[in-house]
Amino acid sequence: MALEPQRRSFLGFLTFGLGAIFSAILGVPIVCYVIDPRHRRAPKSAMKLIDGVKLDDLRATPVQGVIRDTRVDGWTLYPNDVLGRVWVVKRDQALPAFPDKAAVVAFNARPQAEKDAFLLVFTTICPHLGCSVNLGGDGFLCPCHSARFTLAGAQAGVGNPARRGMDSLEWEIDEDDPEFNRLEVKYQRFEALKIEKNAIG
Ligand code: FES
Repeated sequence: MALEPQRRSFLGFLTFGLGAIFSAILGVPIVCYVIDPRHRRAPKSAMKLIDGVKLDDLRATPVQGVIRDTRVDGWTLYPNDVLGRVWVVKRDQALPAFPDKAAVVAFNARPQAEKDAFLLVFTTICPHLGCSVNLGGDGFLCPCHSARFTLAGAQAGVGNPARRGMDSLEWEIDEDDPEFNRLEVKYQRFEALKIEKNAIG
């Protein structure tokens, strides 16, 4: 019969058309999910800007800075969330001048212990049980159980509940800052209560 090929081609088109419609129905949400920035992995960079601290503004009194980054919590994206806070302590030795980016890169390549002769960066998280350490007396004081620390972060006073000094962080000059006046830090958290400084994230 002449109608048979026509019927077959109609069924073929029907099958093809339905397949295309179902693919579109299923595919569009998937493509939207993939290209939606909320579902992309947050960019990972070890060094994070210390917000609110400029090298020119550092004086004998430590200053506190904020660490921000993108955070994803379930379906919610927080593009500029506060990850934590740090204390920046200026030491006696003045930082060298940075005439150009090459000088900053060379400085950042120095060992951390050498850079720490110029300034120190501590997380504000108390190594005892995690409260936020404030300035107090001639150093730092934790309001929760009165752990005291010197400005160099060492334990101070008798009966100190903290089993180690404040947790220092790796830092460097922000090479992308045109004025070379900003700091970046490798922000980490450490296990509480331990004598050793064990990073946990
Ligand atoms: S949490 Fe800081 S002294 Fe206990």
